[in-house]
Amino acid sequence: MMIAKPRPEAAPDLPGRISAPRAHHFRGSLGRFATGVAIVTFDGVTKRHGITVNSFTSVSMDPPLVLVSIARTTKAHDELAGRPFTVNILGAEQRQLAVHFAGRPGPEPLWLEGETAPRLSGVLAHFECKPWAAYAGGDHTLYLGEVVDFAYRRGDALAFANSTFTTIPESQLGMEDLL
Ligand SMILES: Cc1cc2nc3c(=O)[nH]c(=O)nc-3n(C[C@H](O)[C@H](O)[C@H](O)COP(=O)(O)O)c2cc1C
Repeated sequence: MMIAKPRPEAAPDLPGRISAPRAHHFRGSLGRFATGVAIVTFDGVTKRHGITVNSFTSVSMDPPLVLVSIARTTKAHDELAGRPFTVNILGAEQRQLAVHFAGRPGPEPLWLEGETAPRLSGVLAHFECKPWAAYAGGDHTLYLGEVVDFAYRRGDALAFANSTFTTIPESQLGMEDLL
């Protein structure tokens, strides 16, 4: 006779909160949304900051606005408030940069001076931004920037899905007519 193993009891969610076992599932579900990978760079009070993000999104064409969502627990969080910043979109070969600015530093990358904020050399695209607005979003803050300078180059994109880095070949880009 087969005896069914009792299922571990999932802790009930509290109002407005996800229990620890379900938080893992929540992250996994979010991870099914494949994204690009970017690094937000800016000059803080005493030092130059960079933080790897995949929460980048375009917001508005007129005015040109973009958004990044920054965790309150990061060092970058408080210092980014009210400061110009650059969103550096990574190419497929720049995985090391993503890791470097996600808390596992390697050799120092090459920095460039922008008009208002520093940026990184060799990235696939960059958006230099003036601070536009910041909105509280739970344990994150949504920072909106007004784009004052941008450029892109050809090349494959670095992507992130299911907690893994992957590549989007340039040949699969190019559906601009749908947008
Ligand atoms: C692929 C990837 C995407 C990430 N996306 C975000 C993000 O959107 N927002 C965020 O706050 N942290 C994100 N992180 C985590 C930060 O990069 C990480 O916590 C970093 O070490 C914080 O740096 P700081 O504390 O020096 O500012 C991401 C990390 C990786 C590897």
